[in-house]
Amino acid sequence: MQPKKFGLIGHPVGHSLSAAMHTRVFREMNLPHTYEAFDVQPADLRSFIESTGLDGANVTIPHKVAVMKYVEQLDQSARDIHAVNTVVFGGQKIGHNTDGVGFSKSLEEELVNPAGRNALVIGAGGASRAILVSLMGYNANVTLTNRTKGKAEALVKALNAQDKIRVIDYNPESLKAALQDTYLIVNTTSVGMTPNVGYSPIPKGTLKNGQVVFDAVYNPLKTQLIKDAEEKGCKTISGVNMLVHQGAQSLRIWLDIEPPIQVMKDEVLKNLTN
Ligand code: ATR
Repeated sequence: MQPKKFGLIGHPVGHSLSAAMHTRVFREMNLPHTYEAFDVQPADLRSFIESTGLDGANVTIPHKVAVMKYVEQLDQSARDIHAVNTVVFGGQKIGHNTDGVGFSKSLEEELVNPAGRNALVIGAGGASRAILVSLMGYNANVTLTNRTKGKAEALVKALNAQDKIRVIDYNPESLKAALQDTYLIVNTTSVGMTPNVGYSPIPKGTLKNGQVVFDAVYNPLKTQLIKDAEEKGCKTISGVNMLVHQGAQSLRIWLDIEPPIQVMKDEVLKNLTN
């Protein structure tokens, strides 16, 4: 089999969990392919994309939107989310976005179905966008809150979802009111992420038994929000699952294989706890 080359394009890329995860899949499945991280400055993105010998790439912060200009085609997922995290090179470069699938598969494997139910999303950055699009796909009743309310409103407008997503203030009172009858709570902010551990984006007192709490943050594995949710008897889902499932979807697109999900999770967890 002809070895193929894959990589992660970001800045900074640091110690890449994606490289560890994909390399492990190739080893596990006896595939000769390779995956490595490339630290590419914004000013160098275009030339990197145009001259790289890669067969496929994942794209991460800060290039997910900028890279859209440098591919010839956008898959529906990239058009919906308005960002690209996966590129297929070849005759034509095609941009995809697997973050939405990563999110929905993370819910499905925990048998969480937000269809027709109330969901609260906290944060209005890049991670929020894919999650909002995914939740709208389920026809969930979505409420969005963000420290900077104007950014939440701008995001809803950009998604053309003014009649589908309600924006509320980010303060303890309005969070408490909204969480009274919320089934799924999704944190997409960086609150609680290493090194700022110990903080949660919502007061613990607003959480209730029976709710599902999804934290897109995966470092640390047990964020303050996840710890609070566990104490309150909520079902919890870690950002590790979304990382794994978006990576698995990229592999399906590049290679038409069905990757070993548990092996990928184990590899990420190994790299997080070491
Ligand atoms: P990403 O692309 O990973 O989503 P981002 O675009 O930098 O990251 O977005 C970070 C999100 O975390 C934003 O919603 C940000 O809120 P603002 O829009 O008000 O900046 C949110 N965030 C970061 N630090 C926060 C904090 N201390 N409290 C509340 N929200 C915070």
